[in-house]
Amino acid sequence: MRTFIENMPKAELHLHIEGTLEPQMMMALAKRNNVTLPYATVDEIRQAYEFSNLQDFLDLYYAGMSVLVERQDFFDLAWAYLEKMHTQNVTHVEIFFDPQGHTARGINFDTVLSALTDALDQANRTFGITSKLIMCFLRHLSEEEAFETLAHARKAKGHIFGVGLDSSEIGHPPRKFERVFAEARNEGFVAVAHCGEEGPAENVADSLDYLKISRIDHGNRALEDPALVSRIADEGIALTVCPLSNLRLNVVTSMTDHPLRRMLNAGLCATINSDDPAYFGGYMTENYLSVQEALNLSRDEIEQLGRNAYTGSFLDAASKRVALDVYDTFVAAN
Ligand code: ADE
Ligand code: ZN
Repeated sequence: MRTFIENMPKAELHLHIEGTLEPQMMMALAKRNNVTLPYATVDEIRQAYEFSNLQDFLDLYYAGMSVLVERQDFFDLAWAYLEKMHTQNVTHVEIFFDPQGHTARGINFDTVLSALTDALDQANRTFGITSKLIMCFLRHLSEEEAFETLAHARKAKGHIFGVGLDSSEIGHPPRKFERVFAEARNEGFVAVAHCGEEGPAENVADSLDYLKISRIDHGNRALEDPALVSRIADEGIALTVCPLSNLRLNVVTSMTDHPLRRMLNAGLCATINSDDPAYFGGYMTENYLSVQEALNLSRDEIEQLGRNAYTGSFLDAASKRVALDVYDTFVAAN
Protein backbone atom coordinates (compact mmCIF):
# COMPACT_ATOMS: atom_id res chain seq x y z
CA MET A 1 0.00 0.00 0.00
CA ARG A 2 2.84 2.39 0.90
CA THR A 3 4.48 1.99 -2.51
CA PHE A 4 1.17 2.42 -4.28
CA ILE A 5 0.45 5.65 -2.36
CA GLU A 6 3.96 7.00 -2.93
CA ASN A 7 3.87 6.33 -6.64
CA MET A 8 0.27 7.11 -7.56
CA PRO A 9 -0.31 10.32 -9.52
CA LYS A 10 -1.81 12.82 -7.07
CA ALA A 11 -3.60 16.17 -7.17
CA GLU A 12 -3.53 18.61 -4.27
CA LEU A 13 -6.55 20.91 -3.96
CA HIS A 14 -6.02 22.54 -0.56
CA LEU A 15 -2.62 24.06 0.04
CA HIS A 16 -1.71 27.47 1.45
CA ILE A 17 1.61 28.41 -0.11
CA GLU A 18 2.52 30.39 3.04
CA GLY A 19 1.94 27.15 4.97
CA THR A 20 4.85 25.50 3.14
CA LEU A 21 7.39 27.74 4.87
CA GLU A 22 9.67 25.17 6.51
CA PRO A 23 11.50 26.24 9.70
CA GLN A 24 14.83 26.06 7.87
CA MET A 25 13.67 28.46 5.16
CA MET A 26 12.05 30.71 7.77
CA MET A 27 15.41 31.02 9.52
CA ALA A 28 17.35 31.58 6.29
CA LEU A 29 14.92 34.24 5.03
CA ALA A 30 14.92 35.99 8.42
CA LYS A 31 18.68 36.30 8.11
CA ARG A 32 18.52 37.37 4.44
CA ASN A 33 15.94 40.09 5.19
CA ASN A 34 17.11 41.19 8.64
CA VAL A 35 13.86 40.13 10.26
CA THR A 36 13.99 39.33 13.96
CA LEU A 37 12.22 36.10 14.90
CA PRO A 38 11.27 35.11 18.46
CA TYR A 39 13.29 31.90 17.93
CA ALA A 40 17.05 31.33 18.04
CA THR A 41 17.16 27.99 16.23
CA VAL A 42 15.26 25.83 13.75
CA ASP A 43 14.53 23.41 16.60
CA GLU A 44 12.96 26.21 18.63
CA ILE A 45 10.67 27.01 15.71
CA ARG A 46 9.63 23.34 15.51
CA GLN A 47 9.01 23.18 19.23
CA ALA A 48 6.63 26.14 18.99
CA TYR A 49 4.34 24.13 16.68
CA GLU A 50 2.01 22.82 19.37
CA PHE A 51 -1.50 24.04 18.64
CA SER A 52 -4.69 23.65 20.65
CA ASN A 53 -6.89 25.11 17.95
CA LEU A 54 -7.00 26.97 14.64
CA GLN A 55 -6.30 30.40 16.17
CA ASP A 56 -3.15 29.14 17.93
CA PHE A 57 -1.83 28.03 14.56
CA LEU A 58 -2.92 31.18 12.71
CA ASP A 59 -1.01 33.39 15.19
CA LEU A 60 2.25 31.59 14.30
CA TYR A 61 1.36 31.32 10.62
CA TYR A 62 0.95 35.11 10.26
CA ALA A 63 4.08 35.77 12.34
CA GLY A 64 6.04 33.34 10.14
CA MET A 65 5.04 35.24 7.00
CA SER A 66 7.01 38.27 8.18
CA VAL A 67 10.20 36.76 6.70
CA LEU A 68 8.69 36.86 3.17
CA VAL A 69 9.70 40.27 1.85
CA GLU A 70 11.33 40.21 -1.58
CA ARG A 71 9.97 38.81 -4.81
CA GLN A 72 12.67 36.11 -4.71
CA ASP A 73 11.43 34.94 -1.29
CA PHE A 74 7.98 34.16 -2.68
CA PHE A 75 9.50 32.44 -5.69
CA ASP A 76 11.83 30.33 -3.53
CA LEU A 77 8.95 29.36 -1.24
CA ALA A 78 6.74 28.19 -4.08
CA TRP A 79 9.57 26.51 -5.95
CA ALA A 80 10.60 24.46 -2.91
CA TYR A 81 7.02 23.24 -2.56
CA LEU A 82 6.69 22.37 -6.25
CA GLU A 83 10.01 20.50 -6.34
CA LYS A 84 8.88 18.50 -3.34
CA MET A 85 5.52 17.75 -4.97
CA HIS A 86 7.31 16.47 -8.04
CA THR A 87 9.14 13.93 -5.85
CA GLN A 88 5.74 12.83 -4.45
CA ASN A 89 4.25 12.34 -7.93
CA VAL A 90 1.84 15.22 -7.53
CA THR A 91 0.84 16.22 -11.06
CA HIS A 92 -1.71 18.97 -10.37
CA VAL A 93 -1.93 21.60 -7.61
CA GLU A 94 -4.52 24.22 -6.72
CA ILE A 95 -2.78 26.68 -4.46
CA PHE A 96 -4.14 29.30 -2.07
CA PHE A 97 -2.32 32.49 -1.29
CA ASP A 98 -3.18 35.12 1.33
CA PRO A 99 -2.34 38.51 -0.25
CA GLN A 100 -3.66 40.44 2.75
CA GLY A 101 -1.01 38.79 4.91
CA HIS A 102 1.53 40.58 2.73
CA THR A 103 -0.09 43.83 1.55
CA ALA A 104 -0.79 44.67 5.21
CA ARG A 105 3.02 44.64 5.68
CA GLY A 106 3.60 46.98 2.75
CA ILE A 107 4.41 44.32 0.18
CA ASN A 108 3.10 44.88 -3.29
CA PHE A 109 0.29 42.57 -4.46
CA ASP A 110 1.89 42.19 -7.89
CA THR A 111 5.26 41.26 -6.40
CA VAL A 112 3.66 38.31 -4.64
CA LEU A 113 1.50 37.29 -7.58
CA SER A 114 4.20 37.48 -10.23
CA ALA A 115 6.64 35.43 -8.12
CA LEU A 116 4.05 32.70 -7.57
CA THR A 117 3.02 32.72 -11.21
CA ASP A 118 6.66 32.41 -12.32
CA ALA A 119 7.23 29.42 -10.02
CA LEU A 120 4.05 27.72 -11.27
CA ASP A 121 5.00 28.33 -14.91
CA GLN A 122 8.48 26.94 -14.28
CA ALA A 123 7.00 23.85 -12.59
CA ASN A 124 4.82 23.28 -15.63
CA ARG A 125 7.79 23.56 -17.99
CA THR A 126 10.16 21.54 -15.80
CA PHE A 127 7.94 18.86 -14.25
CA GLY A 128 4.71 19.03 -16.25
CA ILE A 129 2.83 20.01 -13.06
CA THR A 130 -0.41 21.84 -13.87
CA SER A 131 -1.87 24.39 -11.48
CA LYS A 132 -4.54 26.90 -10.53
CA LEU A 133 -4.08 29.82 -8.17
CA ILE A 134 -6.82 30.74 -5.68
CA MET A 135 -6.70 34.05 -3.83
CA CYS A 136 -8.10 33.89 -0.30
CA PHE A 137 -9.75 36.68 1.67
CA LEU A 138 -8.86 36.70 5.35
CA ARG A 139 -12.20 36.40 7.10
CA HIS A 140 -11.05 38.13 10.30
CA LEU A 141 -10.57 41.32 8.24
CA SER A 142 -13.38 43.56 6.98
CA GLU A 143 -15.59 43.28 3.94
CA GLU A 144 -14.11 46.58 2.76
CA GLU A 145 -10.59 45.17 2.87
CA ALA A 146 -11.77 42.11 0.94
CA PHE A 147 -13.17 44.42 -1.76
CA GLU A 148 -9.80 46.23 -1.94
CA THR A 149 -8.10 42.87 -2.42
CA LEU A 150 -10.58 41.86 -5.11
CA ALA A 151 -9.71 45.08 -6.96
CA HIS A 152 -6.10 43.84 -7.22
CA ALA A 153 -7.25 40.45 -8.51
CA ARG A 154 -9.46 42.06 -11.14
CA LYS A 155 -6.32 43.44 -12.79
CA ALA A 156 -4.68 40.01 -12.79
CA LYS A 157 -7.55 37.86 -13.97
CA GLY A 158 -5.45 35.71 -16.26
CA HIS A 159 -3.35 34.52 -13.33
CA ILE A 160 -5.96 33.99 -10.61
CA PHE A 161 -8.54 31.28 -11.14
CA GLY A 162 -10.64 31.58 -8.04
CA VAL A 163 -11.29 33.23 -4.70
CA GLY A 164 -11.39 31.53 -1.32
CA LEU A 165 -12.06 32.38 2.30
CA ASP A 166 -9.75 31.39 5.13
CA SER A 167 -8.47 32.37 8.61
CA SER A 168 -10.59 32.40 11.81
CA GLU A 169 -13.93 30.71 11.14
CA ILE A 170 -15.48 31.29 14.56
CA GLY A 171 -17.03 34.76 14.74
CA HIS A 172 -16.69 35.39 10.99
CA PRO A 173 -19.58 33.59 9.26
CA PRO A 174 -19.77 33.24 5.47
CA ARG A 175 -22.46 35.91 5.02
CA LYS A 176 -19.97 38.60 6.05
CA PHE A 177 -18.53 38.12 2.54
CA GLU A 178 -21.71 37.56 0.56
CA ARG A 179 -21.36 40.76 -1.47
CA VAL A 180 -17.66 40.44 -2.22
CA PHE A 181 -18.16 36.83 -3.35
CA ALA A 182 -21.07 37.89 -5.59
CA GLU A 183 -18.86 40.46 -7.25
CA ALA A 184 -15.96 38.01 -7.58
CA ARG A 185 -18.19 35.39 -9.22
CA ASN A 186 -19.64 38.05 -11.50
CA GLU A 187 -16.14 38.76 -12.69
CA GLY A 188 -15.58 35.11 -13.51
CA PHE A 189 -13.68 33.88 -10.45
CA VAL A 190 -14.65 30.44 -9.17
CA ALA A 191 -15.55 30.50 -5.45
CA VAL A 192 -14.46 28.20 -2.63
CA ALA A 193 -14.46 28.68 1.14
CA HIS A 194 -13.10 27.12 4.31
CA CYS A 195 -16.15 26.05 6.27
CA GLY A 196 -17.13 23.42 8.80
CA GLU A 197 -13.52 23.17 9.98
CA GLU A 198 -14.13 24.66 13.45
CA GLY A 199 -17.44 26.28 12.62
CA PRO A 200 -20.82 24.51 12.53
CA ALA A 201 -22.52 22.67 9.65
CA GLU A 202 -24.57 25.84 9.13
CA ASN A 203 -21.41 27.54 7.84
CA VAL A 204 -21.15 24.90 5.12
CA ALA A 205 -24.79 25.35 4.09
CA ASP A 206 -24.42 29.15 4.16
CA SER A 207 -21.25 28.99 2.06
CA LEU A 208 -23.17 26.99 -0.55
CA ASP A 209 -26.26 29.20 -0.41
CA TYR A 210 -24.79 32.68 -0.04
CA LEU A 211 -21.23 32.43 -1.35
CA LYS A 212 -22.24 29.91 -4.03
CA ILE A 213 -19.03 27.96 -3.66
CA SER A 214 -18.02 25.28 -6.15
CA ARG A 215 -15.98 23.29 -3.61
CA ILE A 216 -15.88 22.95 0.18
CA ASP A 217 -12.56 23.42 2.00
CA HIS A 218 -12.55 21.02 4.99
CA GLY A 219 -16.30 20.59 5.58
CA ASN A 220 -15.82 18.05 8.39
CA ARG A 221 -18.71 19.35 10.45
CA ALA A 222 -21.15 19.02 7.55
CA LEU A 223 -21.44 15.42 8.77
CA GLU A 224 -23.45 16.70 11.73
CA ASP A 225 -26.33 17.48 9.35
CA PRO A 226 -27.51 14.40 7.36
CA ALA A 227 -29.74 16.45 5.03
CA LEU A 228 -26.79 18.67 4.18
CA VAL A 229 -24.60 15.62 3.53
CA SER A 230 -27.19 14.26 1.07
CA ARG A 231 -27.35 17.60 -0.66
CA ILE A 232 -23.54 17.85 -1.03
CA ALA A 233 -23.40 14.27 -2.32
CA ASP A 234 -26.28 14.84 -4.77
CA GLU A 235 -24.74 18.05 -6.09
CA GLY A 236 -21.35 16.33 -6.48
CA ILE A 237 -19.51 19.07 -4.61
CA ALA A 238 -16.02 18.00 -3.60
CA LEU A 239 -14.55 18.41 -0.12
CA THR A 240 -10.86 19.20 0.35
CA VAL A 241 -10.10 17.29 3.53
CA CYS A 242 -6.80 17.73 5.39
CA PRO A 243 -6.10 14.84 7.78
CA LEU A 244 -2.83 15.95 9.45
CA SER A 245 -4.15 19.51 9.76
CA ASN A 246 -7.31 18.18 11.42
CA LEU A 247 -5.21 16.22 13.87
CA ARG A 248 -2.80 19.05 14.72
CA LEU A 249 -5.60 21.63 15.13
CA ASN A 250 -7.73 19.28 17.23
CA VAL A 251 -10.53 19.18 14.69
CA VAL A 252 -10.31 15.42 15.37
CA THR A 253 -9.12 13.97 18.69
CA SER A 254 -7.12 11.20 17.03
CA MET A 255 -6.50 10.04 13.47
CA THR A 256 -8.49 6.87 14.18
CA ASP A 257 -11.53 9.14 14.71
CA HIS A 258 -11.04 10.91 11.38
CA PRO A 259 -14.34 11.07 9.42
CA LEU A 260 -12.79 10.40 6.00
CA ARG A 261 -14.27 6.91 5.61
CA ARG A 262 -17.66 8.14 6.79
CA MET A 263 -17.47 10.83 4.12
CA LEU A 264 -16.76 8.25 1.41
CA ASN A 265 -19.51 5.97 2.69
CA ALA A 266 -21.95 8.90 2.54
CA GLY A 267 -21.14 9.26 -1.16
CA LEU A 268 -19.16 12.49 -0.74
CA CYS A 269 -16.36 13.39 -3.16
CA ALA A 270 -13.74 13.65 -0.39
CA THR A 271 -10.11 14.34 -1.24
CA ILE A 272 -6.84 14.26 0.73
CA ASN A 273 -4.74 17.42 1.03
CA SER A 274 -2.00 18.91 3.19
CA ASP A 275 -3.26 22.46 4.06
CA ASP A 276 -0.10 23.86 5.73
CA PRO A 277 2.42 21.02 5.49
CA ALA A 278 5.38 22.82 7.07
CA TYR A 279 3.31 23.37 10.21
CA PHE A 280 1.38 20.10 10.38
CA GLY A 281 4.10 17.53 9.78
CA GLY A 282 3.44 16.22 6.30
CA TYR A 283 2.88 16.80 2.61
CA MET A 284 0.60 14.80 0.33
CA THR A 285 2.15 11.35 0.68
CA GLU A 286 2.36 11.68 4.48
CA ASN A 287 -1.31 12.72 4.65
CA TYR A 288 -2.38 9.72 2.60
CA LEU A 289 -0.21 7.34 4.63
CA SER A 290 -1.25 8.58 8.05
CA VAL A 291 -4.98 8.39 7.41
CA GLN A 292 -4.68 5.10 5.51
CA GLU A 293 -2.85 3.51 8.44
CA ALA A 294 -5.13 4.94 11.13
CA LEU A 295 -8.38 3.94 9.40
CA ASN A 296 -6.97 0.89 7.65
CA LEU A 297 -8.31 2.26 4.37
CA SER A 298 -8.54 -0.35 1.63
CA ARG A 299 -6.88 -0.21 -1.75
CA ASP A 300 -10.34 0.58 -3.24
CA GLU A 301 -10.81 3.49 -0.83
CA ILE A 302 -7.36 4.92 -1.60
CA GLU A 303 -8.02 4.57 -5.33
CA GLN A 304 -11.32 6.41 -4.89
CA LEU A 305 -9.66 9.23 -2.92
CA GLY A 306 -6.98 9.60 -5.56
CA ARG A 307 -9.55 9.69 -8.34
CA ASN A 308 -11.74 12.18 -6.43
CA ALA A 309 -8.86 14.66 -6.41
CA TYR A 310 -8.80 14.83 -10.21
CA THR A 311 -12.60 14.71 -10.47
CA GLY A 312 -12.96 17.51 -7.90
CA SER A 313 -10.22 19.65 -9.44
CA PHE A 314 -10.86 22.78 -11.49
CA LEU A 315 -9.07 21.36 -14.53
CA ASP A 316 -11.05 21.98 -17.71
CA ALA A 317 -12.99 18.98 -19.04
CA ALA A 318 -10.38 17.90 -21.60
CA SER A 319 -7.42 18.16 -19.19
CA LYS A 320 -9.42 16.35 -16.53
CA ARG A 321 -10.10 13.48 -18.90
CA VAL A 322 -6.39 13.21 -19.74
CA ALA A 323 -5.38 13.33 -16.05
CA LEU A 324 -7.97 10.69 -15.13
CA ASP A 325 -6.78 8.45 -17.98
CA VAL A 326 -3.21 8.68 -16.70
CA TYR A 327 -4.46 7.93 -13.19
CA ASP A 328 -6.57 4.96 -14.27
CA THR A 329 -3.70 3.55 -16.34
CA PHE A 330 -1.43 3.74 -13.29
CA VAL A 331 -4.05 2.05 -11.08
CA ALA A 332 -4.59 -0.75 -13.61
CA ALA A 333 -0.83 -1.42 -13.82
CA ASN A 334 -0.01 -1.30 -10.09
N1 ADE B 1 -5.10 29.51 6.77
C1 ADE B 1 -4.13 28.62 6.58
N2 ADE B 1 -4.55 27.40 6.95
C2 ADE B 1 -5.83 27.53 7.37
C3 ADE B 1 -6.81 26.64 7.87
N3 ADE B 1 -6.60 25.33 8.01
N4 ADE B 1 -8.02 27.14 8.22
C4 ADE B 1 -8.27 28.43 8.09
N5 ADE B 1 -7.38 29.31 7.63
C5 ADE B 1 -6.17 28.87 7.27
ZN1 ZN C 1 -6.74 25.65 4.65
